[in-house]
Amino acid sequence: MRRKIKYHILICNGTKCNKVQQGVCYKKGAEDIISKFDKLIAKYGMADEVLVSSCGCFRNGITNKGPNMVIYPEGIWYSGVTVNDVEEIVEVHLKKGNIIERLLSD
Ligand code: FES
Repeated sequence: MRRKIKYHILICNGTKCNKVQQGVCYKKGAEDIISKFDKLIAKYGMADEVLVSSCGCFRNGITNKGPNMVIYPEGIWYSGVTVNDVEEIVEVHLKKGNIIERLLSD
């Protein structure tokens, strides 16, 4: 049976169309951000409700604000995310359903 997730997080890992990881998000620590999400989601037993996916460059004009991510179902975009923000995103957004205003993309 396919699980029904509550949140799907797409995190840019800076891969360009030529498959080379050279984008802003990769250079600013996207791999560490993804790893921290994986670690905390496992720690809090949220793996059945939160799916974290890495993806290539979003190419929508926010690249230079990276690392960038989007959380569905709300479609909330966060930019300039650091590994130090991950715990707050888990606690505030994923656990309580509140948006973190200071990380919102313009
Ligand atoms: S490299 Fe991350 S959005 Fe472009």
